[in-house]
Parts: sequence; structure tokens; C-alpha cells
Amino acid sequence: MSTPDGLPRGPAHAPGELSLHAPQRTLPSSPAALPSSTPSPGVGSAVLRSPTAPTLPDADPGSLTLAIAHLANVLFADPAPPAPSIPSASTGTPPASAPASSTLTLPASTPAAPTQPASTTSPPTATAPTTSHPFSSTPDFSGVFASTPSAPGLPDAFAVPLVDAFDPPSRHAAPAPSPSLPSSPQPSTLPSSPAPTSTAPFAPSSPAPTSTAPFAPSSPSASLTVPVAYEVTPVVDTGLRSSSSSSGFDAAALKAEFPILQQRVHGKPLVWLDNAATTQKPRAVIERLKRFYEHENSNIHRAAHALAARATDAYEHARETVRRFVNASSVRDVIFVRGTTEGINLVAQSWGRQHIGEGDEIVLTHLEHHANIVPWQLLARDVGARLKIAPVDDDGQIVLPAYERLLTDRVKLVAMTQVSNALGTVTPAAAMIAAAKRRGIPVLLDGAQSVSHQRVDLQQLQPDFFVFSGHKIFGPTGIGVVVAPHALMDDTPPWQGGGNMIADVTFERTLFQPAPARFEAGTGNIADAVGLGAALDWVTRVGIESIGRHEHDLLVYGTERLRTVPGLTIIGTAAEKAGVLSFVVDGHDTHAIAQALDKDGIAVRGGHHCAQPILRRFGLQSTVRASLAPYNTHEDLDALVDAVCRIVARGA
Ligand code: ALA
Repeated sequence: MSTPDGLPRGPAHAPGELSLHAPQRTLPSSPAALPSSTPSPGVGSAVLRSPTAPTLPDADPGSLTLAIAHLANVLFADPAPPAPSIPSASTGTPPASAPASSTLTLPASTPAAPTQPASTTSPPTATAPTTSHPFSSTPDFSGVFASTPSAPGLPDAFAVPLVDAFDPPSRHAAPAPSPSLPSSPQPSTLPSSPAPTSTAPFAPSSPAPTSTAPFAPSSPSASLTVPVAYEVTPVVDTGLRSSSSSSGFDAAALKAEFPILQQRVHGKPLVWLDNAATTQKPRAVIERLKRFYEHENSNIHRAAHALAARATDAYEHARETVRRFVNASSVRDVIFVRGTTEGINLVAQSWGRQHIGEGDEIVLTHLEHHANIVPWQLLARDVGARLKIAPVDDDGQIVLPAYERLLTDRVKLVAMTQVSNALGTVTPAAAMIAAAKRRGIPVLLDGAQSVSHQRVDLQQLQPDFFVFSGHKIFGPTGIGVVVAPHALMDDTPPWQGGGNMIADVTFERTLFQPAPARFEAGTGNIADAVGLGAALDWVTRVGIESIGRHEHDLLVYGTERLRTVPGLTIIGTAAEKAGVLSFVVDGHDTHAIAQALDKDGIAVRGGHHCAQPILRRFGLQSTVRASLAPYNTHEDLDALVDAVCRIVARGA
């Protein structure tokens, strides 16, 4: 087997071992045989430490790093000769017990290269995805950001992935049909049972994409099983319906904390009802960003100066704020990324490539945002896995028995949303996660639309991966989080390489940091992580339960008022909903309605909301979506409904 470059493919390596050494190299007999420390050019050896946020050793880790790392490699050394070939990622993945990466064997081009364990090392056997209490361990800060990698779980060695992660698509599908928008969608005319089969719509053998409709099945509804009759019992008590009163909640006062909401648009007071797309930022967040750039800005985890200490403290403090907000068990479980989309791609390309292979199945729900569909399609295409879709009923609620029937022993992951961005459905996440875990199936929970509306307790829910975006919870854009047990992520190969995530680099091999640093290559979005921390503090100050109750009142009020509009149909009528009023109006284009509302200063989204499959499930291509936040008032909804009435009265 050879690499795309024609280079011989070496043996499998530990997840994370990067080695360019010839496999026959001699293992060091003792740490003393290791080269003395090899300082990184341009980086001082003084590693910044602070009591609240010890720093990562991006710079010279010192000889102890090398000694520990090499000892680990010696311990895991595989006496067997390297296997001659490794299956190419383009033709299938190694079994779950094998690491996703392989070793590139190259003649050493640097003279007198130090003796390294390199490719003779054998990876620890990749453990099956954890199924027990991923968030229940005791918080543990020890060793995470220590300036020497002497703590347990520090860098394991990594092997260079040899195969392009993304081969060019070899299959092309027929274009997806574009179901036409019913001219007069009424609840009674909504399709009660749009299409299906129980087979994976995106199986590798299935035809695929055109540039306009990548990966679309030949018929959007032809591949999914949707039972005709349902008996759906809401399982999750989100607390959103536990109170009919918002007494004491002063939304108008909250609104005053948002400078952007004080302006007029087209001469009208701005009414921001596009919160599912992005939320506005309170003064507390804006001021925190300003303070960061005026007093703290520096790169982090390196350098000995005061500003580096301040910036590092602020960044790591934000990590702890995130941990506390979602009740993760360890600050090491919190990985900063750009947002939910990047977080899901990270999981797919690192953990997914390690654990999901040919013939395996990934279960999604019909409610998913494109960000929780496409990354799994890309992975499935490359490794030969298949997607299966849990159906929803005509109210937009997950059909639990049908979901459970999908959970066979071929399923290697459930990836599901906690709240639908298009309909507002609150999924029975606790029951769905429990059902998966009973069968040993890991779960990724997309919290992009839930964290700003309801309390999320990861030690209760116990998904293996939880992702959300800062900008949907009053924080900055470009910052998000993956929360995953560090014990799992320490055994997961990184997906991006660079500074910050390494413990030591030579031209022959690289040692990596454990999680979370292993997944934070390069200079991260430091200021916006700090801003996210400020946003979560703001939510905590307001009270997430109070927010949920207020938004529930608004939802009930808005639903009742919108139902009085002639020809208007609300799409998504689940018993458990959060923050979304999605609707269509007979004879009116959704985009035209959104534009007309804008003229009245009312911001909503008209479109497919990056969730085309669920809209097509209802025979639609788009809806008008008003989405709520705690600063919205009953007057905002009055403005919306009155404006829609005027639009309807004017005619199409
Ligand atoms: N996910 C965002 C939305 O729902 C963009 O509008």
C-alpha cells in the first residue's frame, strides 16, 4: 500500500503519534538517551503561569517532556514489525480498534537525528466510545495546563495522516427535486406521512450531488420512514411550561441593556425577532471585549509578560465559566472552536474517523440543521458509512418508537439537536440519549438553539459531545464550544495541527498536548472566548429559568395572536417548543413577507433556515420565522402580528 505520493505506508500508530522516523530505529533505552531539550525558535523558555490559569507549554517543554513522552512510547512499543499496509481512508476505515492515522516512513533527511521511538511504537488499543457517564468524573485541573507535561495523560505521540481527509467525490447524485411550495398550506393539508424507506439515504452506493443540491436524495422524502400514526408523549420537562407567569421579569429593562436595540430602522423602532439566527449583545459583553482590547490583549499560554498573563487568565477563566454554565465535570472537557458548525466538523473528522467505518450507521433526526447533517455526509461518503433519519410527526415531534427502532448494533453515533432552529421543537433529548446509551451508542447533542432558552446540565444528560455557538447566546460571533470528556478526547487524534496544541516538535516527530489544547491549534479567538464568558455570566445573572418562562409566555401569546391572521399557518406545533414562531401565509411569498416586515423595522428570517429537510417534510421550501430572546416583549409580538395583518390585507 502506498500513499498518494507513492510513499510506502507505515504501520498504524497511536491516535496522535506523528513520526517520520524509519520504523527500524532503535528505541531509546532510557530517558537519558533522549536529546536534551530542543527549544522552539522564537519562543522564550519562560513559561507563563498564573494561579487561576496555569499556562500551556507551547514553548520549550523542557527535557522532562521528552523523557515522559519517550517513556510512554517505550511502554507502548510494539515489538512486532510494522505492518506492510494500512487500508486507505479513501477505500474504507480501519476497524474501530485501530487508530485512524498511519505512519509515514521516510528516510531521515536530518543528520544525526535523535533516536526516537517513531514508527515502532504501537498505539494503545483505541477504546470503544465511552458509554458511561462521560461528564460524571471529578473536575480535574491537574496537569492540564502545567508547564511541564509531567501530568498523567500528557502528550501521546502522533502519526502523520497520510491520506487526504477529503477525497474528491467519486459519486454524483441526481439533482434534488425542489418540491413546490403549496400555495395554501393548511394544517389539515400538511403531509401526514411524507415518503420513506428505512434505508440510509446517503449510503455510499447511492447517487449523489450536483452543485446545486449536494447529497440530496432523488426525492427528499423518498428515503425516510415516517409512520402514519403516532402516539407521542413529550418526555422532557424543560421547565418552559411550568409557569404561566413572567411576573417580575422586566423585558423592557433588559432591552435597555442592548445598545443596538435602541435604534430605529427605516424610521421605525427596531424589533429584533431573528434571535435563532443570532442574538444581540448586552453592554456587559461589549464592555468586556473593550476592556480586553484596551488592557489585556496578548497571545496566550506563552511569553513572560504581564499582558500574556492577563489574557491567559481571562481565556482560561472563560473556559471555567463555560464548564460551570453547562455543568460539565471538568474544565478540560471544554474545547473552544469557532462555533457549532466547526465543533461538529471537529468531532466528525477526529473522533468520527477513528470510530466510524464501512457499513456503520449514524442516526440523525429529521429536525437537524445542515451543520448536523453535512459533516456526517462527508464522513459517511469517505468511510462508507450510512445515515439514518429519525422521523417526526406532523407537529414536528420526534417519533420516539421509530427512533428507537433505528438503534441497531450497526449504529456508531446518534447526532441530534436539542431544539430545532426551524420549528422550535424541544426534542426529548434525555430519553433519546438514554435510549442510545443503553445500547452503547455515543451521542452528539447540538445545543446551538437550546442553551439560551433552557438549563443544560451535561452531567444529567450525559451526551458524549455537546456543541454550541457563542453568538446565539448573546456572545460574540466566531466563538463556540465542544464539550467532551477529556478522557475520550485524550485518545482522539487532532484534526488541525499547529502551535498551542503541541508539546514538542522535531522534524522527525511531534508530541501533542492532551485535550483541550490538542484541539485548539494556532492562536484561537481569545477575545471572543472572553466575551462568551461575559455573555454566560449575563445569562446567569438574568436567570435561565426566568428567561425560559418569559419566552414561553411570549410563545403562547404570539401563537394565539398569529392564529388570528387569515390564511396564516404555524409550522411546528410541538407540545414542547422553545423560542420559535415559524409560519407561512396563503398566497404570500415568505421572503416578500420578511422584506415587508423589515420596512416596519421588524427583523425576522424568511427562508429555509439552513434546515431544508425538515421544511420539505412539511412540503415547504421556506417559512417566515420569528425567534425570541429575553429582551423581546409582548409589544414586539403585537408589532409583528399587526404588520403581518397589514401585509395580508394589502394582498399578495
Ligand atoms: N442557524 C441559524 C439560523 O437558524 C443561521 O438562522
